[in-house]
Amino acid sequence: MKETSFYVHIPYCVKRCGYCDFNTYTPTELRDGGTLETVSGDYIDAVLRELEIAHTQSSGSVPTIFFGGGTPSLLKAKDLGRVISTIKEKWNVAPDCEITLEANPDSVDVAKLQEFKAAGFNRISFGMQSAVPHVLATLDRTHNPDNVERAVRAARTAGYESVSVDLIYGTPGESLDDWRTSVSAALSLGVDHISAYALIVETGTKLAAQIKRGDLTMPDDDLMADMYLLVDEMAQNAGMSWYELSNWSKPGHESRHNIAYWRNANWWGLGPGAHSHLDGVRWWNVKHPTAYKSALFAGNSIEQEREVLTEQQLKDEAIMLAIRMRDGISLNKLNKDQVSRISGYCQSGHLDQAQWSNGTLQLTAQGRLIADRIVRELVV
Ligand SMILES: C[S@@+](CC[C@H](N)C(=O)[O-])C[C@H]1O[C@@H](n2cnc3c(N)ncnc32)[C@H](O)[C@@H]1O
Ligand code: SF4
Repeated sequence: MKETSFYVHIPYCVKRCGYCDFNTYTPTELRDGGTLETVSGDYIDAVLRELEIAHTQSSGSVPTIFFGGGTPSLLKAKDLGRVISTIKEKWNVAPDCEITLEANPDSVDVAKLQEFKAAGFNRISFGMQSAVPHVLATLDRTHNPDNVERAVRAARTAGYESVSVDLIYGTPGESLDDWRTSVSAALSLGVDHISAYALIVETGTKLAAQIKRGDLTMPDDDLMADMYLLVDEMAQNAGMSWYELSNWSKPGHESRHNIAYWRNANWWGLGPGAHSHLDGVRWWNVKHPTAYKSALFAGNSIEQEREVLTEQQLKDEAIMLAIRMRDGISLNKLNKDQVSRISGYCQSGHLDQAQWSNGTLQLTAQGRLIADRIVRELVV
């Protein structure tokens, strides 16, 4: 029986960060004068309805569940626990199922983290972003750097097996030394996993407007590359290795949920705007939480659109995703033309020569900097 992972989208935040265009809403955006509790009140009931639909189309075992957002840690543990127990009732959830909670460092303490643990979570991912106050201020984050240390310590006290932090690099005004400070702060927390993402300027965000007005300037490509190489080197020195372009972990602490995405496995995304993929068919839900809830409560479809992937699309996607991973791509999965188009990158040091001789395409650190260009050579 095939496996299905679950992603559970929690579309609420206390305040929108200036750079973020994720499908998330503050109480004021959703209802004048409303509190988080009132706007999210029946949200989990709606998610449980979607789970009923999911159960008519998917069965088998569940290797991973990931609650992302938005800020899932804003909701009550007992509410998120209702989703976990329903999945456990209806599917065969492996005893070692990885169950991740995305958390804002401001929104948790030991007691709350213990409640989440009792609800079934065993992995936690904190949005740290930076340890440097002026960078956090430009990112428009609410937390101060000390809260991250407090939150990671609280997660350890609460007994989480795997703790991760997200970092962002390339914020306007961030120097290489600022970035070194942030990476070093993250590593000194003794976390098991780090994600480091280059800041993307998303259209329509406050950050995009600040850049357009000339109030902020994005760093140049050379600095971004130096920042990437620095986090890679520092993580390696701390006993972590990269397993995907933007992710480093101690052995055994790779995010199995994200690996499922990158291997194009089956997953069901619950919640507004969430994407799902089952056996080559992909679909996504209506975007707004109000539309999502009212459609489910009225018994109507929540599907926004769907697409059936062609053989060629599946092949191309498999290459695009696999190339991002340390495991790389077996050269015998590529045709002769593809191999000859990229062999030059081996001579130039962008592909690992020893792996290439063993029949595997694996990017070196320099190669990871130009991963998109190498993908374009393969997928034409
Ligand atoms: C959507 S957030 C959810 C976690 C939680 N709400 C938080 O921010 O702490 C997941 C991660 O996406 C990353 N992210 C969001 N917007 C981004 C952007 N424009 N560029 C790069 N990374 C971004 C951040 O690192 C963030 O931790
Ligand atoms: S980065 Fe996280 S906390 Fe900030 S608005 Fe986006 S989802 Fe919410």
